[in-house]
Amino acid sequence: MLKVTYHGHSCFIVDDGKSRVIIDPFLSGNPNSGLAPADVKVDAVLVTHGHSDHVGDAVEISKNCGVPVISVYEVVGYCQGKGATGHAMHIGGSHQFPFGRVKLTIAHHGSTTEAGAAGNPCGILLTMGSKTVYHAGDTGLFLDMKLIGERNRLDLALLPIGDNFTMGPDDALAAIEFLQPDTVVPMHYDTWDVIRQDPYSFADRGKKFADVKVLKAGQFLEIR
Ligand code: NI
Ligand code: MN
Repeated sequence: MLKVTYHGHSCFIVDDGKSRVIIDPFLSGNPNSGLAPADVKVDAVLVTHGHSDHVGDAVEISKNCGVPVISVYEVVGYCQGKGATGHAMHIGGSHQFPFGRVKLTIAHHGSTTEAGAAGNPCGILLTMGSKTVYHAGDTGLFLDMKLIGERNRLDLALLPIGDNFTMGPDDALAAIEFLQPDTVVPMHYDTWDVIRQDPYSFADRGKKFADVKVLKAGQFLEIR
């Protein structure tokens, strides 16, 4: 069983009862998250790309918990430069960690930090226990999502719906068709006015393809 808790924007904590990881820990400055970085206790920090609404508090959490930031090489290097520990990977690569398996996928987006370019953005395939979660990161729709769906049985897909910077709801619906996940949780919306969306309308339109669950920050679902 996986417990997946939403913390607003693209931030989730995934817990299999033995281990916990946080993905895209944008907590400080996230208007929809009430979680303080100091209260996060995890075994790893997974990051999809260098933008500040995804790296977020990764360095602080890595230092506090003594756990690695796991991301593409360039983002890990950036975080290590600020005192984090890290495990660098790159797109297409997978690695078995004590908490589970991580594979990085493509994502069509940019990736910079205040220090400059930060390599390519990625999506994340996370397998903990016997469950696989796909966190798409920030991306537009891409046809290779079909390949991700064919090669992985996805228990859960976390998909951006905010539009403007990422897929909007129409393309996210096509992503569900490509990925064939059991369950979908929309993300990357309502943080700012420019990505305001109605997630319930998206859930209603998506229900013929998957079980689409809208989570408010602080809410969780269980994947059995
Ligand atoms: Ni971004
Ligand atoms: Mn973003």
